[in-house]
Amino acid sequence: MIYEIAPISFQDSDGDGKGDLKGIESRIDYLCWLGIDVVWLSPFFVSPMLDFGYDIADYCAVDPAFGTMEDFDRLSETLRRRGIRVILDFVPNHTSDQHPWFVESRSSRNSAKRDWYVWSEPSVSGGPPNNWLSRFGGSAWCWDEATDQYYYHAFLKEQPDLNWRNPEVRAVMAEVLRFWMRRGVDGFRIDASAVLAEDHLLRDDPVDPEAGDTKPPPQRLKHVFSDDRPESLGYLEEVRQVVDEFEHRVLCGEVQGKIDRIGNFYGNARPRLHLPLNFALLDSPWDALSLQGTIDAYLNAIPEGAWPDWVIGGHDKQRVAGKMGQAQARILAMLSLTLRGTPFFFAGDELGREPGEIPKDAVQDVFEKLVPGYGLNRDPERVPMAWDGSQHHGFTTGEPWLPMKGIGTRNVADLQKQDRSILHLYRELIRIRKKAPALCTGDYRPLRSRNDILAYERFTDTDRFTIALNLTHEGRLLEQIGKGSIVLSTRLDRTTVPVSGQHLLRPDEGIIIQMD
Ligand code: GLC
Repeated sequence: MIYEIAPISFQDSDGDGKGDLKGIESRIDYLCWLGIDVVWLSPFFVSPMLDFGYDIADYCAVDPAFGTMEDFDRLSETLRRRGIRVILDFVPNHTSDQHPWFVESRSSRNSAKRDWYVWSEPSVSGGPPNNWLSRFGGSAWCWDEATDQYYYHAFLKEQPDLNWRNPEVRAVMAEVLRFWMRRGVDGFRIDASAVLAEDHLLRDDPVDPEAGDTKPPPQRLKHVFSDDRPESLGYLEEVRQVVDEFEHRVLCGEVQGKIDRIGNFYGNARPRLHLPLNFALLDSPWDALSLQGTIDAYLNAIPEGAWPDWVIGGHDKQRVAGKMGQAQARILAMLSLTLRGTPFFFAGDELGREPGEIPKDAVQDVFEKLVPGYGLNRDPERVPMAWDGSQHHGFTTGEPWLPMKGIGTRNVADLQKQDRSILHLYRELIRIRKKAPALCTGDYRPLRSRNDILAYERFTDTDRFTIALNLTHEGRLLEQIGKGSIVLSTRLDRTTVPVSGQHLLRPDEGIIIQMD
């Protein structure tokens, strides 16, 4: 499984209210206790931090707010020694406007780096070159007074898009990857990997007739010309080649769009990503029939032989326990750790973390500042990790960068003491999965979902497990089940219980049955 850590929200070591690399190092025991084997660190590079570090001003340097390169080397070395691999966020689509490349690019139309970014003349009528909209609101084009041209930004105007058509840009970004791989990192999660290229004719994006005006304005257009262009897939192939220069590295990527597009991101003859992030579980209606449909649709959409993955949380996604409630959050834990594929979760999901409360005057997220009123604020999910019941939950001795009120009493220390807590459930699921090849790399076979129970099998030649998840708050009968014994219930209150023929699942209960 891959455990996402946003350094700013994990553990502060120097009392400035922001997490840092030394803080992560001080929590390695916890990661080992939980059984984590891969961490993905979201950006800690030099950045004005307008977008949670996704606005990078130097790809190969640690921002002093997070520590030093020495801190990084020590952290990654210690993690590796303790059996945990490290993958980093790679943000190739855009830099910060403070990046020296952009400063140079915008200095003059004749700058050697002018073409490293996407510049254009105004439209004939004098406005922006076309109707493309920024994810963070308004036109995606920003007028540059000094040089009388527009530059393109898919996100903030302070995040100008790099021009991936330019081979120099691709070469310099390849060097960034090599830089970190030489330091020993095990791979990358590519940020916004589907939007690297834009239509070279700059054609207008059409209106999405299905969107309606309840959607935020940027989502009312179909981003056919500004997103997911075929050229981007070619660039991902190049990135993969660079990653393949080193042994045993993994390439994950944030991809947009509907399930039926996800298969493209694996590539065929020319490989692209190992793991295009699959958000289908988060987007699916939460009932047994919908979920069995969602799981099938995704598995049908990926190429034969491709390894699946299942994201249940992330720094852009609403905390699931808030959406579905604590009882069903345990079902999701069991589902994601018993399906075939790599689960991705965000630090705090294992605590059943619910979204924090962010008063208006504490809002940090640009989404909420620039596109307010649509529930896009990502601050509630990014509230720092709660370690214990002390002031600021053991996260910092200073003032936390986001208020930590409203996240309730769920913290690591307390949940560790309660042996049936969701935290113990995660730990147990991880442990069982590691022990049983059938649950980890084994095959997957769906069973017909009846009585609101989602059921499937995982098996190897020698072992077979049935997983049955009750998606309701009432008891439900699991029928037509062979002989076996329950090895784990989401309630953590049973050890081995024999099953045969049928079995009554309690409200919100999921079980793993080892078949005879
Ligand atoms: C990705 C990141 C998100 C960020 C955006 C712009 O979608 O996950 O947090 O705001 O890229 O970099």
